[in-house]
Amino acid sequence: MKITDLQKRLGRFTLQVERLSIEPGKIHGIVGPNGCGKTVFLKLVMGILEPDGGRIDYEGIRPDEITMMPQRPYMMRTSVYKNLIYPLKLRGIRPDEAKMDELLKKAGLLEQKKQYAGGLSSGEKQKLSFLRAMVFEPKIIIMDETLSNLDAESEELFKELITSRQREDPATWLIVNHQWDHVNRLFDMVHYMEKGRFVKHEAAEG
Ligand SMILES: Nc1ncnc2c1ncn2[C@@H]1O[C@H](COP(=O)(O)OP(=O)(O)O)[C@@H](O)[C@H]1O
Ligand SMILES: [Mg+2]
Repeated sequence: MKITDLQKRLGRFTLQVERLSIEPGKIHGIVGPNGCGKTVFLKLVMGILEPDGGRIDYEGIRPDEITMMPQRPYMMRTSVYKNLIYPLKLRGIRPDEAKMDELLKKAGLLEQKKQYAGGLSSGEKQKLSFLRAMVFEPKIIIMDETLSNLDAESEELFKELITSRQREDPATWLIVNHQWDHVNRLFDMVHYMEKGRFVKHEAAEG
C-alpha cells in the first residue's frame, strides 16, 4: 500500500502523511501518544473517513478485502455462529461448517455456537469479533486497540491466530496497541506517529 500526500482535517486536528509505504504481507505496528491520529489514520485506510486530499494506492486490493476490528466488538442480534459467518454471507461465500467449528473450538467458543452472541462475556465477544474479521481471509487487517486489555490467555490465542495466519497466507496487518510491548514481538515494522504525522519508521527486532 502506498500513501501520498494524505490529508484530513477534523476540527483543530490535521493528519498529514506525505509519503508512506506499507509493505504487503507484513505486520505493521502503529505507535504514538493518545490523540496523535492513529484511529483517524486507520479509518482513512479503511475508507470510513474520506480524505481531504492525497491518495492511497491499495496496489490491487479491493475494499471488500480489507477489514477493521474496532476496540469495542459489535455483535449482531443473532447466534455466535451466524455472527461468525456473516462476512461470508455478505460476500456470497458458503461457509465450510467443519472449518468454522474448528475456529470456534480454537477460541473456546464451540459450546456457545448456537447461543445468542449478545450474551457472551466481553472477552468472548472480543474473540468472536476477531474470528469474524478473519473468516473471509482479508488481505488487509486493521486492529485498533483490539489486543488491549485482554487477559493473558486470550492474548496468547490472538498471537497464535495471527502467526498461524501469517504462515499460511500472509496478510498486511496494521495494529494499534497502547500496551504495545505485549505485542511488539509480532511486528515486522513499527511506524511512530506524533501530532498527526509519521515521525519514524523502523524494522522491529522481531
Ligand atoms: N470527528 C472528529 N471531530 C473532531 N475532532 C476529531 C474527530 N475525530 C477525531 N478527532 C480528533 O483528532 C485527533 C486524533 O484522534 P485519534 O485518531 O482518535 O487519536 P488516537 O491516536 O488516540 O487514536 C484527536 O485530537 C481527536 O480529538
Ligand atoms: Mg485511537
